[in-house]
Amino acid sequence: MKTWQSRFSPYATRIAPSAIFGLAAMPRAADTINLGPGEPNATLFPAAKLSEIVSQTLDDPDAAARALQYTVNAGDPQLRERISDYMCAKGMPCSPRNILVTSGAQQALDLLTELLVVPSARVAVQTPTYPGALGIFKAHGADIMSIEQLQEDPAVDVAMIYAAAEFHNPTGTSLSLDERQALIDLARTTDAVLVEDDCYETMRYDGAPVPTMLALELREHTIESARTIYVSTFSKSICPGLRVGWIVAPATVIDQLTLLKQSEDFQAGTLVQVCVASMMGFIMQQHVPMLRDVYRQRRDTMLAALSTHFGADVQWSKPSGGFFVWLTVPPHVDTTALLPRAAQAGVTYVPGAAFSHEGAYSNALRLSYSSVSLERITEGVRRLAAVVDDARSGTKGAATHA
Ligand SMILES: Cc1ncc(COP(=O)(O)O)c(C=O)c1O
Repeated sequence: MKTWQSRFSPYATRIAPSAIFGLAAMPRAADTINLGPGEPNATLFPAAKLSEIVSQTLDDPDAAARALQYTVNAGDPQLRERISDYMCAKGMPCSPRNILVTSGAQQALDLLTELLVVPSARVAVQTPTYPGALGIFKAHGADIMSIEQLQEDPAVDVAMIYAAAEFHNPTGTSLSLDERQALIDLARTTDAVLVEDDCYETMRYDGAPVPTMLALELREHTIESARTIYVSTFSKSICPGLRVGWIVAPATVIDQLTLLKQSEDFQAGTLVQVCVASMMGFIMQQHVPMLRDVYRQRRDTMLAALSTHFGADVQWSKPSGGFFVWLTVPPHVDTTALLPRAAQAGVTYVPGAAFSHEGAYSNALRLSYSSVSLERITEGVRRLAAVVDDARSGTKGAATHA
């Protein structure tokens, strides 16, 4: 019999394990503080509200019949209506026809890549960028380039520009209005589709909201003639375990994506969609403001701890939302090599190279404050500073390079 490996498709074998999931397997000290994973805080999940809505739905025979049945492939009609109302309120006029409900933003990015990217087609990304998107682009055989490269050579044929304008993963930073407009203009000049990943849209802790790239484009176009496709999720505002995200796009695009979705898994689960539709008012009006207060405090605590424990040769981003801070340590400190030592010293992070299509950012790392208590954020940063300090002075050798 041929080996199993020789039977696997080129597509399947291009998928690499997630560096972030791999962190969990790394040997570490007891009581390690995980500043790596960008998970929402599990103690804040709206379990009681969810339980109330699931019971109400299942106790009513008509509602239960609807919630437990197949629904239309594009998503539960009531949820699509709620999402399109929400998009309109955020300055993105569209209708339920422009919405596809997906199994999280991750599936949204995968479906869009399947739709738009053939092997060897170019995809331009921010550098650094979200590794979950890089993995999808690589699996589809895309030729990944940076947006800077594309700006220098806009004559290049590019299928997709992938960008997050708000509370970017991993840097936590946001694009200014001009930078957002420049990306729309770049997509227009290069005739590319602009995919806007807005997963952290509900997580603004300070400053005035800035229009999304889709909202900017819709000032001059209707949704049917827009080239920006918008992706978001309920993973941060409700919880990731429900696996509900969405795409906003022209109806023609939604129709084709719906066929892809149909061939993959028919539809997102009906019960969760029905529950999310019933909860959306509560989530946006009551739950998200509470989450923002908690996460704002965590961000402030992390920024204060960084100022206390790091010197002038380490720089970090100052996010006004999202879950992440991006740290740049001295150039000779290799954060991938340093990680096992950090884990033994009781703190983890995600090395910068995980966020690059070409292994760059060897002296950077991502910290997340979302799922760690205030005391542990401070202690985790203190432990990290001690480990970086050792590496900086080369006292333990292994984590530095010439
Ligand atoms: C930038 C970005 N896009 C997409 C996703 C995937 O989100 P979801 O849980 O909705 O699949 C994440 C997850 O953290 C993310 O950070």
